[in-house]
Amino acid sequence: MTRRSPITGAERPPGFVYREEKKGLLRRSAGLFLFCDDIAITKLAEHYGTPLYVYSASMITERFDAFDRAFRHVPHTICYSVKANSNLSILRLLAKGGSGFDVVSGGELERVLVAERRAAKKVVFSGVGKTRDEMTAALKAGILLFNVESESELWTLAECAARLRMSAPVALRVNPDVAADTHPYISTGLRKHKFGVPLREARTLYAKASAVRYLKVIGVSVHIGSQITEVAPFAEAMARVAVLVGELRADGHKLNYVDAGGGLGIPYENGAAMNFSDYASDYSKAITRPLRGLNVHVLLEPGRSIVGPAGALVTRVVYRKTNDGKRFVVVDAAMNDLVRPALYGAHHEIVPVRRRADSSVKFEAVDVVGPVCESGDFFARDRELPRVEEGELLAILDAGAYGMALASNYNTRPRPAELLVSGKSAKVIRRREKVADLLRDER
Ligand code: LLP
Repeated sequence: MTRRSPITGAERPPGFVYREEKKGLLRRSAGLFLFCDDIAITKLAEHYGTPLYVYSASMITERFDAFDRAFRHVPHTICYSVKANSNLSILRLLAKGGSGFDVVSGGELERVLVAERRAAKKVVFSGVGKTRDEMTAALKAGILLFNVESESELWTLAECAARLRMSAPVALRVNPDVAADTHPYISTGLRKHKFGVPLREARTLYAKASAVRYLKVIGVSVHIGSQITEVAPFAEAMARVAVLVGELRADGHKLNYVDAGGGLGIPYENGAAMNFSDYASDYSKAITRPLRGLNVHVLLEPGRSIVGPAGALVTRVVYRKTNDGKRFVVVDAAMNDLVRPALYGAHHEIVPVRRRADSSVKFEAVDVVGPVCESGDFFARDRELPRVEEGELLAILDAGAYGMALASNYNTRPRPAELLVSGKSAKVIRRREKVADLLRDER
């Protein structure tokens, strides 16, 4: 199947829009160029090289604010999911806007503490395999909540807290057995998944936990998966959580928090058509309606929906080639820089950074591929794109979440630089890796 990339649909205000560039004394139009905020991406690529991650600070802030506004009618804290994009500058930007954080490792916790020490009290710690060292570090930092995923983990946490003579704030992550339409690798809310404790075992476990002096049971948590674009499964999960909260309160537990997890998806195809505020508000209704009357503080762990559309991976066309009539555009970015297409068969819009006048655009079906020695190293297959020449730039959109965060050094490829653009200024928030960086720790 061939798919036409809607190049006009690539505009994602306020972050990525096409603008006319004028040049020369006569101020003749040089064509339309993709901008990130107020800077032409061609200039960034020339200056900082490619492949290059470019993020729009205004878009991150705007999306965070829209998400926050959607929940204004209930007591809530947004705990941005660090795994989506863990760059320190992005964490700092979000912390400034009032965000808390969802972490899943000691490493992520350290990032948050480095970015903004005071955010510790708004940190929730999730994950199925927390180690003693990680738990101890989180207790010492004074985090808000541990989302505990098994009975063994509960006892280990109690032991760590006892050693520090502290009481660990705990929610059990329950598995609501709700199906959500997403890629099987990132669906988590079914019985067959490794996450959480079964709903029907929760009451017994809560009773055991509350009998331990070093544990303070304060909430219930749930997360059903990622890249979920329908709000119904969230409502269904929350309805089950609401029943459980009622039962647990009847059992005598004092529960103040419901952690609704993350997972709100983004439209990777034709994303510009969507109004994020409306979407966030539908999501908010799905989450909060079932909880009405329970008087709980709602915690949310969005990752992708905040930073995904705010980032693009900029890459240069190295070669064009044709094999038996099939056309390839070989670019300088690869699966090690952005693995989502290879790993999940994910779709990312790809747009030319320089857009020709509509009348002269020729479309062609191409595979956009990287230089890595695997056939899985592709960004698009049989995609109808406006023809691009060698040396020209492409932007792979919606790469702000799970892009750089999942990047690797496969094929001894140094990872890209990351830039945070704010209005007319661009800051390098991670310098481009060098091969020497990769060799440094080896003997
Ligand atoms: N909370 C928990 C407990 C999670 O496991 C996740 C994501 C989130 C929050 C944030 O979910 P989000 O709002 O970003 O959907 N690498 C995959 C996504 C993996 C998601 C893992 N957990 C991808 O590129 O699509």
